[in-house]
Amino acid sequence: MTANFLLYGANGFVGQAIARLSVQQGLRPVLAGRNSGQVGALAADLGLEYRIFSLDDPPAIDRALRDMSLVLHCAGPFIYTFKAMADACLRLGVHYLDLTGEIPVYTALAARDAEAQERQVMLMPGVGFDVVPTDCLAAHLKLRLPAATHLTLAFQTSGPTRLPPGTARTMLGTLPNATKVRRDGRLQDAQKEAKTRWFDFGRGPRQAVLLSWGDVFTAYYTTGIPNIEDYIALPPVLIRLRRAADRLRPALKLPLVRKLIAPLIPTGSTPEQRARTRTHVWGEVTDDQGGIAVSRLHGPEAGVDWTSLAALGVVKKVLDGQFQPGFQTPARVFGADFVLEGEGVVREDLDEPA
Ligand SMILES: NC(=O)c1ccc[n+]([C@@H]2O[C@H](COP(=O)([O-])OP(=O)(O)OC[C@H]3O[C@@H](n4cnc5c(N)ncnc54)[C@H](OP(=O)(O)O)[C@@H]3O)[C@@H](O)[C@H]2O)c1
Repeated sequence: MTANFLLYGANGFVGQAIARLSVQQGLRPVLAGRNSGQVGALAADLGLEYRIFSLDDPPAIDRALRDMSLVLHCAGPFIYTFKAMADACLRLGVHYLDLTGEIPVYTALAARDAEAQERQVMLMPGVGFDVVPTDCLAAHLKLRLPAATHLTLAFQTSGPTRLPPGTARTMLGTLPNATKVRRDGRLQDAQKEAKTRWFDFGRGPRQAVLLSWGDVFTAYYTTGIPNIEDYIALPPVLIRLRRAADRLRPALKLPLVRKLIAPLIPTGSTPEQRARTRTHVWGEVTDDQGGIAVSRLHGPEAGVDWTSLAALGVVKKVLDGQFQPGFQTPARVFGADFVLEGEGVVREDLDEPA
């Protein structure tokens, strides 16, 4: 088996960015997807090999993966795409990485831990912004307060970027679902859906609202902390809209309503817009003795730049032989400081809670 990787969904907004950054970093992924025109044009532009196949065609997936060490799966929403790819990876002994933040995907892949261990395959979903930075911050906070019982994570985007189209589509698809938190080790629906809290990401308090982020699943694997909540900082108008979404939930369950809303969400960004954007991550742990530790991370734009950086950081480690078979989370395998290997990422520990 050669030490190379297949980048599936390479023609997507984020897949293209990862393909370009791969080449800048000296990697030569085999590009893949189901759109031969777009994937072929990108491959020609970057001087890379490409393979075209549908996820509905298991023999074709097997042929495309036969000489690969790992797959970086970038075709989402992953709830529709992960299974075919993960099945093939497990059949062929190929490591599986993806960019999901969808809790049902983590749940389904974690259930295949034993199978993956037997096949010596690492299943590591969530190697983008969701969840590499937050997972590493959670691991760091656990080291600072080993008896931690509660973990709170929050993030803020500061700058002119907009969501990648696939992220917007995934978020819209999950809006009708209840927001998830972890309580006493179990995933639960939040008691108060649009719960808000103020955080200081470094430039004064900002209001943030509860959201279902991958960490409520993954940080438990990484740290064992049994109570986990995630928040996103939003402008007041979006927090009001988030509250309204709760009341509109029955309507949001209708695909037609979501189809009408989709064009209203601004998506896409230029490299220049992303270069003027920073992402701030805030994390807090507390324990039963009144102990508390707070740390922050600051890094590049989340949806494309930090995601690409983090994902390729994981790819390089795995190609280098650094993997652990089974269902895995980034910080559990690569450690809390892994996130600091990304260019432009800094971490600070706060003496006093902010
Ligand atoms: N972890 C993170 O922090 C993070 C950050 C950014 C994005 N994401 C996730 O990454 C995914 C891609 O985002 P994006 O903005 O790049 O989306 P996008 O521009 O819409 O691209 C989606 C890609 O997935 C492919 N695809 C979708 N459904 C498919 C299916 N059933 N079979 C085969 N290919 C399929 C598309 O192929 P076609 O062109 O052939 O339709 C395209 O290549 C989304 O799920 C998003 O939520 C995660």
